[in-house]
Amino acid sequence: MATIKALPTRPLGVTGPQVSALGLGCMGMSTWYGEADRAESIATIHAALDAGVTLLDTGDFYGMGHNELLINEALRTAPAEAREKVLTSVKFGALRSVEGDVIGIDGSPAAVKNFAAYSLQRLGMDHIDVYRLSRLDPRVPIEETVGAIAELVEAGHVRHIGLSEVGADTLRRAAAVAPIADLQIEYSLISRGIEEKILPTARELGIGITAYGVLSRGLISGHFTRDLQLAPGDFRGFSPRFQGENLHRNLGLVDRLRAVADAKGVTVAQTAIAWVLSRGEDIVPLVGARRRDRLAEALGALDVTLDAADLAAIEQAVPAGAAAGERYPEEQMAHLDSEH
Ligand SMILES: NC(=O)c1ccc[n+]([C@@H]2O[C@H](COP(=O)([O-])OP(=O)(O)OC[C@H]3O[C@@H](n4cnc5c(N)ncnc54)[C@H](OP(=O)(O)O)[C@@H]3O)[C@@H](O)[C@H]2O)c1
Repeated sequence: MATIKALPTRPLGVTGPQVSALGLGCMGMSTWYGEADRAESIATIHAALDAGVTLLDTGDFYGMGHNELLINEALRTAPAEAREKVLTSVKFGALRSVEGDVIGIDGSPAAVKNFAAYSLQRLGMDHIDVYRLSRLDPRVPIEETVGAIAELVEAGHVRHIGLSEVGADTLRRAAAVAPIADLQIEYSLISRGIEEKILPTARELGIGITAYGVLSRGLISGHFTRDLQLAPGDFRGFSPRFQGENLHRNLGLVDRLRAVADAKGVTVAQTAIAWVLSRGEDIVPLVGARRRDRLAEALGALDVTLDAADLAAIEQAVPAGAAAGERYPEEQMAHLDSEH
């Protein structure tokens, strides 16, 4: 591996660390997007570190520990310099069955400490940089979950507290207990729900945003086609936006975005990522690349400058609210505090 390069950085909120302006989301290397190639996944993490990416996002339930073990292996085989710079963002709380179904969420204080102990073991680390509950547990007040993470911070096992897919009221309640670095939430050209209330509240509270699904799980990457065969269990096989007429309409939006990208001499994915980057210095997009070529394309977005005319053309091609279909199946939408 060559000497590590530097990327532009952004803060994770007022109290969080500086991280590379793009983070690597490792989920698809273990789950929900069909088979991934282990060697290519590790090579992709190495390439990201080499390029200067310093934020790796995972969840203990991504492949029931598989993703954390993969990151462990990638970091063990990376140069010490890269290992020292990298920050881990870990989600917990989702409960999965042997068959892989998500069967619940547990944000109770004892569970928080248990989840953290197992994650540290699997990651082979003595601390987690940002630790967050993946979905609000309706049975446990957020104050109790955040309070338990704050105790882990006190003990040195966690550096910063994050949140995931919660709404403005929960943000406020959590921030009253302890400093919150960032909120991880879906945000893209076709998922703009946070703009009304959640983003202004996060800004008021000094909480940063790590945006996921900036390519809408590949839908607006420019590489997704109508006839793509999805593996059984692939999230996109049951996501409303990828079904029938919805898919047809959404890919129509991508065609319009492609015209803007082509005129600028960049790719569709780069345009979509650059648009999220343009929304503010307090937003750090995560990209779910699982191959080196996809990663290289995503990193190219950092070199794309969008002026007022570009932004107008993009928003004309894909107006707010233009997506056909919700971002999750109905049952999962019901579990999103951010949607209530
Ligand atoms: N907090 C939460 O609730 C939550 C939920 C979901 C995800 N996340 C986190 O956010 C990360 C990113 O989310 P995501 O993977 O769903 O979103 P994404 O970045 O919108 O989509 C990733 C998919 O897009 C395709 N793609 C095509 N071109 C790409 C390119 N140039 N760069 C990257 N991907 C490209 C890839 O599929 P192919 O490899 O098949 O081409 C990849 O699997 C996850 O890894 C996870 O860490 C958090």
